[in-house]
Amino acid sequence: MIRFLLSALCIINSFESGDLAFIPLTKKFLDKLKNETLYNKFATPTQYDGVPTNVTLSMFIEGMSSFSAQTMDYHLDVYFQEEWYDHRLAHNASAPILVRDLEVFKMMWHPDVYFANARSAAFQDITDDNFLVWVYPNGRVWYDARISIVSSCNMDLWKYPLDSQECALRILSYAYPMTVLRLLWSEKEDVPAIDRNPDITMPDMSLKHIRTGYCNGTYATGEWSCMTAIFYVEREMMHHVMQTYVPTALIVVISWFNFWLEIDSAPARVSLSITTLLTISTQANAVKLALPEVSYMKAIDVWMGSCMAFVFGVMIEFTICHYAKNLELGREPGGPQSLIVDTALSTLFGAARDIDDLVRKVATLNEEEGVRGDGEQHIALNMLNPEEPRLRSLNPNNDVTANGTRYFVGAERMKRKRSKASLSRLRQQVASMRHATVDVSRRAFNWTRALRNLRGRRVAQRIDERCRIVFPMIFFLFNIAYWSFYLVFN
Ligand SMILES: *[C@@H]1O[C@H](CO)[C@@H](O)[C@H](O)[C@H]1NC(C)=O
Ligand SMILES: *[C@@H]1O[C@H](CO)[C@@H](O)[C@H](O)[C@H]1NC(C)=O
Ligand SMILES: *[C@@H]1O[C@H](CO)[C@@H](O)[C@H](O)[C@H]1NC(C)=O
Ligand SMILES: *[C@@H]1O[C@H](CO)[C@@H](O)[C@H](O)[C@H]1NC(C)=O
Repeated sequence: MIRFLLSALCIINSFESGDLAFIPLTKKFLDKLKNETLYNKFATPTQYDGVPTNVTLSMFIEGMSSFSAQTMDYHLDVYFQEEWYDHRLAHNASAPILVRDLEVFKMMWHPDVYFANARSAAFQDITDDNFLVWVYPNGRVWYDARISIVSSCNMDLWKYPLDSQECALRILSYAYPMTVLRLLWSEKEDVPAIDRNPDITMPDMSLKHIRTGYCNGTYATGEWSCMTAIFYVEREMMHHVMQTYVPTALIVVISWFNFWLEIDSAPARVSLSITTLLTISTQANAVKLALPEVSYMKAIDVWMGSCMAFVFGVMIEFTICHYAKNLELGREPGGPQSLIVDTALSTLFGAARDIDDLVRKVATLNEEEGVRGDGEQHIALNMLNPEEPRLRSLNPNNDVTANGTRYFVGAERMKRKRSKASLSRLRQQVASMRHATVDVSRRAFNWTRALRNLRGRRVAQRIDERCRIVFPMIFFLFNIAYWSFYLVFN
């Protein structure tokens, strides 16, 4: 690149230098510098003319790197060029005189520019001091030096990592006010004010363009000439998209799998939500490490917070579903579903009640029978043969010995035998009926619970089904809003 520069300079100088590019420092020139009556290095070239000395600056940006949001600075590697006219140094040689000795350069007057917002700056001196001075026959002095600068840049990170930054490098004269020294950006066509190495690549930033400007300021000591070089850099967001946005968006998508999981598998759903929540907070922490602790909200904070809110929303949705599943039937009367369930339940309960009545009836009959010491047969007869009381009234005495009554006794025995058999059958029936009742009531109980659950379950399932559409839709809309806000409207 230096070769490119030198060739550019040679083109500028060709009309003055003739065949030779430059001539080495001559004894005559040195003598002039040393003779105080001929040359006073403490006086500016136009000190006694009453006009300011014009110093024209230009830069070639060789390298730019290490944009750091944490320390808010960046590195610059530049060829820094100054040009001024010092008629006291005019000479009769046929080509510009090259000065590349620092001691000789210090014997000449030169501007004292410095970089106001540089944290540190250094000349390069490998393998020798990286600088050159050309003194043209007409007194024009061209100075070129290679400087490494670490300059601070006040970054506004509210759009991080979708931001672009504007970093200004301020250049001032330290000692001379505007009335003595004026700094100007080069306006010559062949010496652009700021040129750049087209191959500058930074891992996380790209240099968009460079602008020059003035920042003349009035201080207590007078008005100072000030110049700025403004670098527009844009953050390469692909890295952040791949490393932060896509993974977190995928985690949000994974958290939606909750809506397809069974409402009963609480452990699976809770652990899925918690895992996704923790993963996002880990991601958010990793992002925080690379950034200074600014007090405002950055774009990445908005994203991370929203992703966390989405996953949190999934957890809330599960809690609501779980609650809805366990909702009791009685709490919400009136709905069509509850009406159906109510009817079904009342029918069921009616049937159970009927069976219960029957069982109770049989039980009281049994008790009656137990109270009567006369024997079971009477109940049975009572129940099965309504004529029996009449027979008994005809024959109040059971111990019939008379012949005429034998028939009655025989008939009664037969009846008793028959009634005994039917009684045991009845008992079996009652017992089985009891079992059936217990069974039916238990089933009814289970069924009502199932019905109640069914209703809550339907609500929960409906919530799940809605969320399957609502959550992705809201996330999609959020994405449109987010990206258009940060990329288009700002
Ligand atoms: C300085 O220059 C003047 C004028 O050319 C001359 O008279 C004088 O001798 C020189 N002084 C020295 C120390 O060379
Ligand atoms: C400095 O530049 C200004 C124009 O910017 C010009 O008017 C002035 O004459 C120049 N001064 C000298 C000493 O060349
Ligand atoms: C340059 O040469 C001319 C004539 O040869 C002479 O008059 C003049 O003083 C010289 N200038 C310098 C700076 O030596
Ligand atoms: C600042 O000073 C320079 C000369 O050093 C002049 O060209 C420029 O117009 C001034 N700018 C402002 C804003 O005063």
